Amino acid sequence: MGSLQSIELKNKIDYNNIPEHVAIIMDGNGRWAKKRFLPRTAGHNEGLKRVTEIVEVATKIGIKYLSLYAFSTENWKRPQEEIDNLMKLLVHYIRTELNKIHKNNIKIQTMGDISKLPKTPREEVERAIKTTENNTKMILNIGLNYGGRDEIIQGVKNILKDINMGNIKEEDINEDLFLNYLYTKGIPDPDLLIRPSGELRLSNFMLYQIAYTEFWFSDILWPDFKEEDFYRAIIDYQKRDRRFGGI
Ligand code: FPP
Repeated sequence: MGSLQSIELKNKIDYNNIPEHVAIIMDGNGRWAKKRFLPRTAGHNEGLKRVTEIVEVATKIGIKYLSLYAFSTENWKRPQEEIDNLMKLLVHYIRTELNKIHKNNIKIQTMGDISKLPKTPREEVERAIKTTENNTKMILNIGLNYGGRDEIIQGVKNILKDINMGNIKEEDINEDLFLNYLYTKGIPDPDLLIRPSGELRLSNFMLYQIAYTEFWFSDILWPDFKEEDFYRAIIDYQKRDRRFGGI
């Protein structure tokens, strides 16, 4: 970290206009590996190193919420070996990084139904959430068995439950109330969504929350995504004129 280029770019950031919430679809691990005639798992391993770096960089520049798409509701369709490897990486990440994350005052949260994860990753994730629950510098919000449509449907079901139990009335339902039924309860909508790897789609990520999010796409594959690319995304974001439907 800290190449001349990244230092120059870092100096161009306007620290009065840091996006509060950055979301990243970490894509391109498989293609990165294929280009090198390596197994897909090698791409995920390298991708995990970028997770560690970007979490550190995001904390340093004052981002308050960082959402990462680590495993989608659709990723269960992948070969079992690849799923097992991703789960192992999640466990490895927590076992090797949790102390540092905690020391850096980062709070780990997840979005998605983690009850469906295998036992060890589930328990490690629960331990990470518990250990860091009172931290305040940044929320690291990890999408695990996460799907935007699934999230909305779960939200609707839970609203119906609350209506049936008499906790709320149909007239109470509005956009503010609905936010409390999403996995991101208490987290503001992303200001900036980064998707590397050249794909121009959302892949079921934070569908409700990204209504006014600024998108930043790039051809860089996630395992090649460096500190300076993150700064570039922030600097480009700072040039955008956000009107939220106004003029
Ligand atoms: C998409 O690349 C990436 C994933 C499905 C997994 C992302 C996971 C990591 C970076 C590591 C684990 C993360 C944490 C937070 C523990 P792809 O496999 O779809 O790539 P491709 O489109 O090139 O095939």
